[in-house]
Amino acid sequence: MELPFSQACENNKAPILAVLQRHFTRPGHVLEIAGGTGQHAEHFAAAMPWLQWQSTDVPANVATLNLRLAAAALPNLPLAMPLDVTQADWGQHGIDYLFSANSLHIMPASAVVEFFRPLPDVLAPGAIVCVYGPFKYGGEFTTPSNAQFDLWLKERNPASGIRDVETVQALAAAAGLSLVEDNAMPANNQLLVWRRGNAA
Ligand SMILES: C[S@@+](CC[C@H](N)C(=O)[O-])C[C@H]1O[C@@H](n2cnc3c(N)ncnc32)[C@H](O)[C@@H]1O
Repeated sequence: MELPFSQACENNKAPILAVLQRHFTRPGHVLEIAGGTGQHAEHFAAAMPWLQWQSTDVPANVATLNLRLAAAALPNLPLAMPLDVTQADWGQHGIDYLFSANSLHIMPASAVVEFFRPLPDVLAPGAIVCVYGPFKYGGEFTTPSNAQFDLWLKERNPASGIRDVETVQALAAAAGLSLVEDNAMPANNQLLVWRRGNAA
């Protein structure tokens, strides 16, 4: 059985892990939104066995995602569950760490609002939220290639698009998150890190 694969994930999983290992330091439950191919879940769960890594994706993608997670057969990586951020109840509470990569520029802007809205109910006090992907700053793309990427996204789906970091930051703040770090990552991406409550 051929497993789902993304070359971008192969390229970015090591630099992302280096950041997560500085923040996901204690035993706890991770909720991954938009697990995709499962390469991140497999790599991060294997490297951080003190975490229980629960991956999720929209219902239509869960079976594909689970091909890889089942093959990985890691004790701290259960099969993925269906979760669309726009659903009324995520059915998740007391989450210590939330991770999502390359999802906010794929889902519509209205769904980005829904991504952050339930977090006060979903996250434990002091929880860490890490979101990886490209962002605009002050309305500007960080590179010409990100501007090209944005055009390509909108040709595929007019509702997709690289988000303004200020908009995302405002949604995070409204959900009670404090920005801890904005890490510049390879390939013109960022890894935003928030803490529920005060940043210190
Ligand atoms: C470009 S892929 C990224 C997958 C993976 N995280 C990665 O970095 O390769 C975008 C992901 O966003 C997910 N997605 C899109 N809309 C979503 C929604 N409303 N709720 C949850 N996930 C969503 C897709 O199913 C897909 O897995």
